[in-house]
Amino acid sequence: MPDFLPFTRPDIDEATIAGVGEVLRSGWITSGPQVRAFEAALSRYCGGRPVRCFNSGTATLEVGLRLAGVGEGHEVITTPLSWVATANVALEVRARPVFVDVDPHTRNIDLNEMEKAITPATRAIIPVDLAGLPVDRDRLNEIANRRKLRVVEDAAQAFGANWRGRPIGSFGDFVSFSFHANKNITSAEGGALVLPDESVVPRCEALRLQGVARSGEDGMEVEEPGGKFNLTDVAARIGLGQLPQLERFTQRRRALARRYFERWDRSLGCELPVEDYEQSNWHMFQVVLPAHVERAGFIAAMREQGIGVGVHYPAMHLFKLYRRLGWREGQFPHAERIGRGIVTLPLFPRMADADVDRVCEAVRKVLAPAQMRKMGSVPN
Ligand SMILES: Cc1ncc(COP(=O)(O)O)c(C=O)c1O
Repeated sequence: MPDFLPFTRPDIDEATIAGVGEVLRSGWITSGPQVRAFEAALSRYCGGRPVRCFNSGTATLEVGLRLAGVGEGHEVITTPLSWVATANVALEVRARPVFVDVDPHTRNIDLNEMEKAITPATRAIIPVDLAGLPVDRDRLNEIANRRKLRVVEDAAQAFGANWRGRPIGSFGDFVSFSFHANKNITSAEGGALVLPDESVVPRCEALRLQGVARSGEDGMEVEEPGGKFNLTDVAARIGLGQLPQLERFTQRRRALARRYFERWDRSLGCELPVEDYEQSNWHMFQVVLPAHVERAGFIAAMREQGIGVGVHYPAMHLFKLYRRLGWREGQFPHAERIGRGIVTLPLFPRMADADVDRVCEAVRKVLAPAQMRKMGSVPN
């Protein structure tokens, strides 16, 4: 039996591991020179825009919303098909998340529906680039500008992706990235917030750490409470070691995605993702299982074949928290259907081409009708 193949795995090289050792021996392990160096490198990647690092891509979203002026009484429009952090942050700033359905082709927010959902209370939009496939930035920013709305891009999964050749993060309003272990580059945990201009930097830094503003040798002032959201130098050193590998990682991910399309058995009836080798960073390779297939049984059968499968994500408006706020089954049929059937198959830079073949073969075996009947999920 070959080794278990997880759906993702970070790729940390020996130079980065050695660099982390140096940081640990240096006497300075929390926020310091490595964080500043990581921020400078990220800013260069984002075309010189100001960037500040945080300890998660959730903290970046929350602070982005605060900096965008979102608070009590405001509505924030977003997609139900994302990690629940995307909407939870709206609640954290006392705003109301307003969901709209996704486009079943891209699985990202449907921008026509988004525009229809704008009310006088709408203050901001949080678009999500699911699996690293970018939301149409031309259309999104045109609507936001015309309707005078702020945008906090949840680009947690889109580091390395681009829109018409411009890296995500190098343009737009606020852009939030995550460097969680599963992301295309990682700092174990961490995030970065790209800011629209320098004027918001002082408040951004204050909201990152207890609201504290320092001045001179000993000055300290606090005007509003902030979080405890700073990134450690240990984590920043991992990120610094990852960043130069981004291009290689992205190219490898695209090549693996291409192989999935070449090897996939289309008679199985799964819905494949958009076949994009230009803009997407292929953060995940996700298919939607046919409606008659029971997902839990599929995941268990794949595990028996030595293959890890993830679920990203069930439609979040159906979580109890959001049902309590009035959201109901049937409101977003595309997100609900995709959320019930979506699975994430293995895709990470160190995977071999033969691993893709192995996954495709296992899927074929598991989804073969006889196999499904044995699992009791196909009506006879
Ligand atoms: C779409 C999306 N938004 C937000 C987040 C939150 O990022 P973090 O886990 O770094 O807080 C994630 C991470 O999983 C994500 O995938």
